[in-house]
Amino acid sequence: MSVVNVTASRNYDVTVSDGIIDKCGSFCKPLVKGKNAVIVSDDNVFSIYGKRVTKSLESEGFKVSEFVVPHGERSKSMSCYINLLEFLFESGVTRSDLLVALGGGVVGDLCGFAAATYQRGIQFVQIPTTLLAMVDSSVGGKTAVNLENGKNQVGSFYQPSAVICDPKTLSTLPEEEYLCGCAEVIKYAVLFSEEFFTQLEETPAKKQLENVITTCVTMKRDIVKADEFDTGERMLLNLGHTVGHAVEGLSGFETLHGQAVAIGLATISRSAVKYGYLSEENCERIIGLLEKYGLPTETEFTADEMYTLAVSDKKASSDTITIIVPRKIGHCELLKLPKTDLKDWL
Ligand code: NAD
Ligand code: GLY
Repeated sequence: MSVVNVTASRNYDVTVSDGIIDKCGSFCKPLVKGKNAVIVSDDNVFSIYGKRVTKSLESEGFKVSEFVVPHGERSKSMSCYINLLEFLFESGVTRSDLLVALGGGVVGDLCGFAAATYQRGIQFVQIPTTLLAMVDSSVGGKTAVNLENGKNQVGSFYQPSAVICDPKTLSTLPEEEYLCGCAEVIKYAVLFSEEFFTQLEETPAKKQLENVITTCVTMKRDIVKADEFDTGERMLLNLGHTVGHAVEGLSGFETLHGQAVAIGLATISRSAVKYGYLSEENCERIIGLLEKYGLPTETEFTADEMYTLAVSDKKASSDTITIIVPRKIGHCELLKLPKTDLKDWL
């Protein structure tokens, strides 16, 4: 078992351990005085893990109900969010009760935003079941839903009260989704540690899951501690995301988030070579590792198409956009560009 303590506007532990999902109730019990626990999940995840989580919560005296959305990005919507708030109100949930996000980043972001806003804030716990959610979205308190054409356009910073991470749940995750999480794992290595990058080259992430999850969570913990509200160095975590979000949007969310991030990471690495920031050799290693993990590194969308979406990204101001540029494996920099220069980078 590994425990990473996150220090932010709320302090909490991220506990990583095989089989811990069956003990989630004992982690939740000390957090709240209320008796209601509402599991927010999607249909896939709830059908596999809902009973086990319910049983553990009930064994600690919680009255458990569930709000289950269809799986997929489309459930990170204003309508699901409103329906969830209405459900909480109709169920008599109060500020002393608890929400439990059981699933990937979609339900984590949806549940987190509902927790942040329902009755001005109710505690929530993350039980991430995708690799992406374990290493990234469940930690750090970014919560959001999408507008019709705008990813993550409505949200807040709101930290969970605990993150309970069971790597064994990844055994049921479809391979494609698992690989999406690997894109975020590779992103952390490019950002912060050549040593970790080499570990990923030498040993498949699947063979060292607890180490991979704990390493990434520790890196994220450090960034969140330094810049919880994303005004400075936390923006580094957006490596690959300017292009990634554009590709995701242009594909109508057919390209999965992690695949889009992989394309974004490869694109920015190639451009970084073109502009003299990154060596050819480092770029080849980055693209090689993405390919080794079965991730895409190219897109059919044109620079013009991506530009239109990229400049509407949250990282853009009226005239400039901040992109994240790899200098070498383990070190990246924020680079503020006039928006008009971005097209060349794409
Ligand atoms: P997801 O939540 O859609 O889950 C992917 C798919 O896997 C779904 O179909 C789900 O039903 C299924 N699934 C999940 N766990 C499973 C399991 N253990 N067994 C079987 N099936 C399982 O996708 P995701 O990749 O986890 O998250 C993507 C979302 O996360 C995006 O909306 C992205 O914007 C968001 N995100 C948020 C942050 C943040 O900091 N808040 C960071 C990164 C990404
Ligand atoms: N996933 C990016 C962040 O948490 O800042």
